[in-house]
Amino acid sequence: MNNIGAGITIIGCGSAAPQNKLTNVHLSEIVETSDEWINSRTGMRTRHISNKTESLSQLAADAAQRAIADANLSPTDIDLIVLATSTPDDLFGSASKVQSLVGATRAVAFDLTAACSGFVFALITASQFIRTGVYQNVVVIGADILSRWVDWSDRTTCVLFGDGAGAIVCQASQNSDRLLAFEMHSDGSQNACLNLPYQSQSKSLVPGITTQYGTYKPVTMNGREVYRFAVAKVPEAIEKAMFRAGLVVEDIDWLLLHQANQRIMDAVAKRLKLPPEKILSNIAEHGNTSAASIPLALDAALKEGKVKAGDTIATAGFGAGLTWSAAIFQWG
Ligand code: UT7
Repeated sequence: MNNIGAGITIIGCGSAAPQNKLTNVHLSEIVETSDEWINSRTGMRTRHISNKTESLSQLAADAAQRAIADANLSPTDIDLIVLATSTPDDLFGSASKVQSLVGATRAVAFDLTAACSGFVFALITASQFIRTGVYQNVVVIGADILSRWVDWSDRTTCVLFGDGAGAIVCQASQNSDRLLAFEMHSDGSQNACLNLPYQSQSKSLVPGITTQYGTYKPVTMNGREVYRFAVAKVPEAIEKAMFRAGLVVEDIDWLLLHQANQRIMDAVAKRLKLPPEKILSNIAEHGNTSAASIPLALDAALKEGKVKAGDTIATAGFGAGLTWSAAIFQWG
């Protein structure tokens, strides 16, 4: 530990999405819905859906490799990979597989599960390893394939979710600290609002001992409750983080929220008194990609030349748990 108290810089970003795009019109052939309903209620038009060959590990590895290249580093420079996902290829975790696919042979890797808050939770977790001087170069990935776990006959959920992965590279710095503040929260009393629950079957092993084996039920969500929760809690968390960072709303260049619903992004911006032009959104193309949505939207904004070095970004994740989190950081 020779770097205690190091600052954090965020120096690379990359993303990956499956090739196939499912449109609102496609969805109207599957369930009783319409392009008009989906677009007016959510802002979504398409979402990318994984095929048989596009695994969670491969999408995450592709995003990570692009982020590492963007940071001008080699995979062997990476010390730690934190993979935020709720949909690993393997319930034991997919991070080690990602480490191997990326060729980050020196890195330790682990999964972190916090649903749609996962990416911000993972960024904050990664930052602790940097601040304590343990690691120099850390890759934070958000990746999810929720299309595996939605009920394709339930129009209240199946129209919302898409698949993808995004990644950033965080680096220790003695000269600057670009992660200005953060907030993290959980409220398990509202757990039933959004679930992907285990579903067991009883199997008798020997007299008196029965095991519960099984699979998972598809995603269930009380959309209205989660909507209300997000619009109430997210602005509060961002305001607290801004206060800790000593910033006022005029200091924020971009609002980068979990891409769950365009109406949520608009409502949060309004509460914060941020003009709509400062919202970063790619929900029309990707829908809700859970842990991937924030780095996917960041990568798109960087490629479009919107986000520039030194820009101050207020980000927030929210979702199942329920969990919510905010972070204020500067790019580059
Ligand atoms: O990523 C995790 C965090 N997730 C979120 O933040 C999601 C938060 N929630 C939402 O974004 C919104 O609540 C939804 C987009 C999920 C739903 O929008 P809403 O405006 O809250 O609609 P609603 O649930 O109040 O439903 C309104 C109507 C209902 O019909 P009735 O009961 O009024 O007759 C639904 O049955 O719309 C109906 N409906 C649909 N109609 C056409 C629900 N889904 C659909 C659909 N197509 N896909």
